[in-house]
Amino acid sequence: MLFNKAATININMLVQDLKKIEVELTTRCNARCPGCARTLKGETNPDVELADITLENYKKILHSREYIEDKEIFYCGVLGDPIVNKDFKEICEYTLSMDPKVLIISTNGGLRSKEYWSQLGTISKNNPKLDMRFCVDGYKDTNHLYRVGVNWDRLVENMTAYSQAGGKGQWVYNPFDHNIDDIEKSKQLSTKLGFKFTLRYSMKQEDTHKVVNKKTKKIENKISLTNTKYQHPELKKKTTTKQETKNLIIKEETKNLNIKCKLIHEGEIYLGANHQIWPCCYLYDNNWYKRDDMVEKFSKYDPNWNDSLKHDIQDILDHEWFSQILKDSWDENHSMFLSRCQKSCSHFGKKQHTFAEI
Ligand SMILES: C[S@@+](CC[C@H](N)C(=O)[O-])C[C@H]1O[C@@H](n2cnc3c(N)ncnc32)[C@H](O)[C@@H]1O
Ligand code: SF4
Ligand code: SF4
Repeated sequence: MLFNKAATININMLVQDLKKIEVELTTRCNARCPGCARTLKGETNPDVELADITLENYKKILHSREYIEDKEIFYCGVLGDPIVNKDFKEICEYTLSMDPKVLIISTNGGLRSKEYWSQLGTISKNNPKLDMRFCVDGYKDTNHLYRVGVNWDRLVENMTAYSQAGGKGQWVYNPFDHNIDDIEKSKQLSTKLGFKFTLRYSMKQEDTHKVVNKKTKKIENKISLTNTKYQHPELKKKTTTKQETKNLIIKEETKNLNIKCKLIHEGEIYLGANHQIWPCCYLYDNNWYKRDDMVEKFSKYDPNWNDSLKHDIQDILDHEWFSQILKDSWDENHSMFLSRCQKSCSHFGKKQHTFAEI
């Protein structure tokens, strides 16, 4: 393992050696969670370009068995909910036919009919590698406060149909101050449905999410987590103000890199709905927000340099940025330096999110 900036070897990652591929099947969503990049003032952020990976293109990109076999395939993403993709079921079936290690899907669970969810449950029953993660942040009276637009009755109907058809699933719960009292009830329902129940701890828990009414544009609610019992371990340590802590973290990070990179150390890649390949959701997100002057820094390359419809994933991994520059750019004096790598992955990745089964 390489955990410092002194190493100068090339990283020639082979697609068949990758351990995990995260795929953003779409940038569309039925919900408007206030902490999501796609939500702005209660509406879809106008900067979100609506895009989907069609079954046809998915098959072109992940074209052969060795691109899927034995890997964790994870349908999540930054800007959308995978279930919205119109080819979702067929894409799952194609992927399962290539024998992945596991096919994990992250969804708010609020879209589509109980018949559709029953079909997904049957697919999972016949191939338990399909593992659905329902991201439900509360119970009847609280889930919609963060998962804005998700109808509780419909969600429970969908989860029940999936479970009754024999589907394998998990309930992932983001704790906030307003839903802590519902954890126990939610866990009971999760157990009844035959799902594992996990809490997610993330650095996003330091943010306050403003829920804005779409019509009036007024702030209706503010969502945050101050209860330290449910916070990410790195946030629990904080004793100073948010800005002071940020400055301290940046100072510490530049002194001590110890980066744990999802690509280089964990063998992961990220495929966006725009067909671009990035090492991780962090840089896809960073690029989307145009942070770290990414647009300028990458302008020296062909605009399609990481487009997996134009280039095979292997050729993208062989590109100089993936094979050499990324690792070298962790040095803040490098011309391609991206502070996001330090912010999200320094200190052996201890700020990356974690899950705990309770
Ligand atoms: C943008 S979502 C895409 C997948 C899907 N739409 C969903 O919500 O599960 C990516 C991940 O971020 C998680 N997420 C959303 N809001 C969050 C928050 N405030 N803190 C931590 N994770 C969050 C979601 O649960 C999901 O696992
Ligand atoms: S369900 Fe997922 S993609 Fe949709 S708004 Fe919420 S976090 Fe974003
Ligand atoms: S942010 Fe940088 S260091 Fe972290 S996983 Fe992505 S590419 Fe690797």
